[in-house]
Amino acid sequence: MDFHTLVPGKQGLAAIDADALLVVVLGTKVPGSLDGPLGQALADAVAAGDFAFRAGQMLYAHRVPGVKARRVTFVWAVDAGARSLRKAVAMGVALVKGGGARHLAVAVAGGGSEVDGAGAEALVLAVHEATYVYRATKPSAPAASKLERVTLVCDREEKGAKARKAGAASAGATGAGALAAGLARGQAVAAGVALARELANRPGNHCTPTYLAEQARKLGKSHGLKVEVLDRKDCERLGMGSFLAVAQGSDQPPKFIVARWQGAGKDEAPIVLVGKGITFDTGGISIKPAAEMDEMKFDMGGAASVLGTLCAVAGARARANVVGIVPACENMPSGRAVKPGDVVKSLSGQTIEILNTDAEGRLILCDALSYAERFKPAAVVDIATLTGACVIALGHHRSGLFSTDDALAAELLAAGEAAFDPAWRMPLDEEYDEVLKSNFADMANVGPRAGGAITAAMFLKRFTSKLRWAHLDVAGTAWRSGPNKGATGRPVALLSQWVLSKVAGPAAAGAGKVRTRRRA
Ligand code: BES
Ligand code: MN
Ligand code: ZN
Repeated sequence: MDFHTLVPGKQGLAAIDADALLVVVLGTKVPGSLDGPLGQALADAVAAGDFAFRAGQMLYAHRVPGVKARRVTFVWAVDAGARSLRKAVAMGVALVKGGGARHLAVAVAGGGSEVDGAGAEALVLAVHEATYVYRATKPSAPAASKLERVTLVCDREEKGAKARKAGAASAGATGAGALAAGLARGQAVAAGVALARELANRPGNHCTPTYLAEQARKLGKSHGLKVEVLDRKDCERLGMGSFLAVAQGSDQPPKFIVARWQGAGKDEAPIVLVGKGITFDTGGISIKPAAEMDEMKFDMGGAASVLGTLCAVAGARARANVVGIVPACENMPSGRAVKPGDVVKSLSGQTIEILNTDAEGRLILCDALSYAERFKPAAVVDIATLTGACVIALGHHRSGLFSTDDALAAELLAAGEAAFDPAWRMPLDEEYDEVLKSNFADMANVGPRAGGAITAAMFLKRFTSKLRWAHLDVAGTAWRSGPNKGATGRPVALLSQWVLSKVAGPAAAGAGKVRTRRRA
């Protein structure tokens, strides 16, 4: 999909050459800028009681006389901020996506606030979100939307051009230059979100550890990443006894994927992202109940978000160094599977008594966190669908954030708010560590049910003493259950926002040079 900005000519919105026009209406009366046929159509609808200036109001009109666009939608919004725009665009796109429109123009009228770079970015993400269709294993699914082109109508080209020249095309700036930068950034992030959704939606028999490794390699080719895949032998040599203990019950060979984006100088310390890549979690010998076990194909959502974020960051040509680490395997019961009570030795040298084989995420992450040390990272963030307890604690709106570093936690929380991909900080008091004591190893892999999301994080903390570290438990946010079952692509938006905001300024200009590539 192609996104761009347009400054309308003298005849205004009515003359815009698009298949569909979405007018985001602000304020409490027919906007003065909507003179001519569009204003008349809206005023007529208001008089007839079919449109009001309040939240949730939407009006569709076909072939308004004097308006070039065949389809016109009015959606009311409280302001032109990113949050409002995102909602309004989602509503408007939902209405035209199943139809014949190929070219959609979006304009804001009335109010007094104007769209900024963050708004433009939000618009792109909303359009992609609303038009995504999973088809990989469902050829009968409705064809993806016909939308090919989206135009963001704006005015004041000069101000934007000046802003861009001054290198100030940041998210908060307005004008065409800032909008174009926001659109480019949005496209890079949307591609990352789409990749994460696509990978996580694939069933376990398609999305195996080997498949994830292939996809990482493919992403590397298309986006200029260095990708290295360690196999079982490599991991044995390194001493990843904890990761391999989880992998040993499966016939699918484990893959330890390392993908690197080098957008900054060689000596700049990288950000390391570690993603849980359990391509299917049966629970192992501590097997899960049958109900909803299918959803455990999403247990590689953390891994998908790491690859998605690399896709976004590389797509935006960000001047940052980012390393993605994905330990990938299945958690299966079998004659070779690890058993409750087994003791394994992690890469860190610490031993672990595996009391519950269903607490496997932490077992693969701990070795990946130890591996991360070799990159001398500026910060390490792991992302995992780690605990059902986190879903109980926070539901499906906010991801759980755990960190031993207040500044890092604050950065990630702020990125989550800005990207509409919010998280909530959870505690890591030493007192919670007590329950991990074992008589037979340095630690047990589980505690009691109470505070399960925290004890899981406390387990990981034992492997991060040399790191600036944060952990995102996305068990409640990486996918939706029920009739709209499917991956959300979270927290790609949060992570991309975090990385891209660190390199704002020069990177925003670089983000304008996004190349369109095939999706991996
Ligand atoms: N992948 C699951 C976590 C999960 C469960 C995510 C349900 C989303 C929905 C994880 O591997 C797991 O099984 N965790 C156990 C830990 C327990 C055995 C301490 C859990 O949450 O029940
Ligand atoms: Mn499990
Ligand atoms: Zn799991």
